Amino acid sequence: MTPHAALYALHLLAALIWVGGMFFAWMILRPAAVTTLEPPARLRLWLEVFRRFFHWVWPAVLVLPITGVGMLHMSYTSMEAAPRYVHMMIGLYVAMLALFVRVSALLLPQLRAAVTAENWPEGGAVLGRIRRVVGFNLLIGLALVTIVAIRPTF
Ligand code: HEM
Repeated sequence: MTPHAALYALHLLAALIWVGGMFFAWMILRPAAVTTLEPPARLRLWLEVFRRFFHWVWPAVLVLPITGVGMLHMSYTSMEAAPRYVHMMIGLYVAMLALFVRVSALLLPQLRAAVTAENWPEGGAVLGRIRRVVGFNLLIGLALVTIVAIRPTF
């Protein structure tokens, strides 16, 4: 296995875990939790889901730029020489990182505080905000993977 292939595999696995996890949370777990659980149980479930999922997202968030920049150095003479889709990947990564940090550093502590205080209306409102941010991040992630797959030449 070449060093580039190892970086490439790690890069794809990190992207898969992050975007795939958001897809599962948004498309499968969210509607299943809404139809089966009352607000207190649902909010406690999400708190635990985010805690466990973010243990995987943080390493993915670090692995993506490290492996990506490593591949950049191996494949291209400079950042300017890299194709446009790689520049777009980096820009979209920054947007995804900002949204992830917003949920993890700002909204999740608010959700934890609401659940601890058993303030279910407030918890529901915060969960709604998290849902919107994660939904948007999922769309960016799916768009990013589509862009690198089709490699537009504009
Ligand atoms: C700073 C962040 C990132 C950098 C520097 C970076 C860089 C790279 C580079 C250099 C390649 C190899 C492209 C080539 O040589 O043809 C690549 C491939 C890829 N990256 Fe990224 N990337 C970053 C973030 C992301 C993110 C956030 C995702 C998805 C969530 C992602 C998904 C992919 C995929 C799916 C490929 C495979 C494309 C293909 O070869 O068909 N990358 N990336």
